[in-house]
Amino acid sequence: MMASSYTYPLVKIEPPGPKAREIIEKHKKFVATTTHDPQNLPLVIERGEGAWLVDVDGNVYLDFSSGISVANLGYPTHPEVKKAVLEQLEKIAHAAGTDFYNPYQVKLAEKLVSIAPGDFSKKVFLSNSGTESIEAAIKLVKSSRNKHYFLAFIGAFHGRTMGSLSFTASKPVHKKRYFPMMPGVVHVPYPNPYRNPWHINGYENPGELVNRVIEYIEDWIFGHFLDPGEVAAIVFEPIQGEGGYVVPPSSFFVELEKLAKRYGIVLIDDEVQMGLGRTGKMFAIEHFKIKPGIITLAKALGGGVMPIGATIFRSELDFPEPGAHSNTFGGHALASVAALKTIEIIEQILPRIASLERILREELQELKNKYESIGDVRGLGLAWAIEFVKDRTTKTYNPDVRNRVLREALEKGLVLLGCGKSTIRIIPPLVITEDQLRTGLEILSEAIRKSL
Ligand SMILES: Cc1ncc(COP(=O)(O)O)c(C=O)c1O
Repeated sequence: MMASSYTYPLVKIEPPGPKAREIIEKHKKFVATTTHDPQNLPLVIERGEGAWLVDVDGNVYLDFSSGISVANLGYPTHPEVKKAVLEQLEKIAHAAGTDFYNPYQVKLAEKLVSIAPGDFSKKVFLSNSGTESIEAAIKLVKSSRNKHYFLAFIGAFHGRTMGSLSFTASKPVHKKRYFPMMPGVVHVPYPNPYRNPWHINGYENPGELVNRVIEYIEDWIFGHFLDPGEVAAIVFEPIQGEGGYVVPPSSFFVELEKLAKRYGIVLIDDEVQMGLGRTGKMFAIEHFKIKPGIITLAKALGGGVMPIGATIFRSELDFPEPGAHSNTFGGHALASVAALKTIEIIEQILPRIASLERILREELQELKNKYESIGDVRGLGLAWAIEFVKDRTTKTYNPDVRNRVLREALEKGLVLLGCGKSTIRIIPPLVITEDQLRTGLEILSEAIRKSL
């Protein structure tokens, strides 16, 4: 896609090299502890180009992480986004978008409304991150429905602020020490075809798995302790991201939508990680043919340049009066322009995802056939995962192998990220070329072979 100066990764100095080590040390001293893994991923990024990343010691890597699905348009900035942003900088960047009006956020909101599934009237709340887009969704349903219970799924990730954190359920560390969170959230099993409480093979029996989850909600949750009339919303990821890139059976959301309609429950579709072309469609939920009342976006929306979140919602759920919800940076002119251009470019590049997906599907299946330690491969579009197990029968998680693969791949010039308990995710920028994708997959195969 984009012209690039690199054809193959080049790791001259084992990461972390001397410059990287110095920065990591200083980082530890001055920057808060977040999610870094200095053992397996000691990568100190200096710059990027297309699907390539260059570290501070001059090592060149292929990127299969997209900065956690933010850099969907590659690095450093897509030329058209850059042009739009530079032009906007000459006009105004921050125009106090929640106190004063500006045309830039209006254009973005109009575009988001036009592309989001659902032939009904919609509006948009603009923010700065994924977690904020979820917070807004919570407040929209609470204020418009006057109901305060929610359903969410085990394995979910929706953010780390106290509202969104109450839905997050992928790793205990996220919630440990933070009790109490927002009350009223009940978690139910996600229809994970590979691992689920009923030990159903969801690839062979998708309908049975979907029925079990729907029955669980109706018979066990609604039947025993939660009046469905009091449930405001069901919050879900169309494909679970941090929880392990879990793709549910194709009929799941149709059944969930039927259930939601039966009881007047709003569906909140969190597309923060899977939205904006990642799965080969603009919104991942388009694969599943339903029309949620609320959709949240962030990550890739700012084209890798600006942090921005968006909550797209049915107009009837709007906040009741000025001041009921707002923020400082929402409707930021520069972020809005970057987002609008980003969406336009994603619309243009969407058709190329299908052929890249085919390569991933075939190559990853081959890896599974080759290595017993791979329990499952799954994905859609350019959102794929490999789950490592100690034994295919018991499906015991194998985080050690997963971590070695991350480290080996990095040393060979491929940047990967983990997710779930023993899974790696494969999420290259959407602008990656077929050759680059194949090169990355060869390195991945070699890294797995060496890690076993
Ligand atoms: C599905 C999903 N929702 C919400 C969030 C939170 O987004 P942020 O980190 O921008 O707050 C994430 C972050 O990874 C996510 O993957």
